[in-house]
Amino acid sequence: MTTMETFHLLQPYRIAEETFVIPWALEAPPVGHFPMNSMVIRGSEPVLVDTGAPAVRSQWLEAAWSVVDPLDVRWIFLTHDDRDHAGNLLAVLAECPNATLLTTWFSIGRMAEEWETPINRCRFMIDGDTVDVGDRTLVAKRPPLYDNPTTRALFDPKTDVLWAVDTFATNVPAPIPEIADLSADEFREGQFFGGRLVSPWVALLDGRKFGAVVDDFQRLDAEVIAGCHSPVLRGPRIAEAYDLLRRLPEIPAWPEFTQADLDQWMAVAEGSVPPEQPRPSAT
Ligand SMILES: [Fe+2]
Ligand SMILES: [Fe+2]
Repeated sequence: MTTMETFHLLQPYRIAEETFVIPWALEAPPVGHFPMNSMVIRGSEPVLVDTGAPAVRSQWLEAAWSVVDPLDVRWIFLTHDDRDHAGNLLAVLAECPNATLLTTWFSIGRMAEEWETPINRCRFMIDGDTVDVGDRTLVAKRPPLYDNPTTRALFDPKTDVLWAVDTFATNVPAPIPEIADLSADEFREGQFFGGRLVSPWVALLDGRKFGAVVDDFQRLDAEVIAGCHSPVLRGPRIAEAYDLLRRLPEIPAWPEFTQADLDQWMAVAEGSVPPEQPRPSAT
């Protein structure tokens, strides 16, 4: 298993048989960092699961092609069209000419604000649909929490790996490979914070109805849960995470940072705030 010592951002690590997470993270002061991961399933027909963020495009592509030859990629499963998931989609489509994009009508429409997605390379894969990728049949399923209406998670019954997308999002003190590296308090508080941050509407929900949705998702019975904004969950932390998720409708909404917070951060920065600019690594 990947340890803290062998873990580096944008260096893919194996989380299950022929399944790799491409880890990245953003600093998120004052709450630490947020993971920004993607995944690769290197089966007989390799699958990219999301395409990373544009801020690290060249590094992300290099990381992905260290796991799989782009000419071998047969499928790109796009969970939704947010920039942290679809940010390198055009570059990936260009470098993977043999790949079919698994997406939705609404995602294509939302991305049309920025680019035309080649619909001749698309296949619609909505909640409940499956796709045969040669040596396994992947299942798309809407996760309990999401911040974009097109979101579908992806379950691989061959490895029992679940890509939970934005569900189980958490801040972390520093980037880590496995959620077991968090203390019990960090784990609980991170799940409560990340869940309410991603889906503030969870406070509006009927807890019993939401609980049934969580139960249904949990019945996938994943052994390994990876996600864009969470280190990998395994073992007892999976059931614990589902229990914390079920509690979200009962707890008060997360109080957002206010202008007073921003004023305080600016005072501390004392003129050292950098000017508006693209991230230097953006290509
Ligand atoms: Fe999202
Ligand atoms: Fe996300």
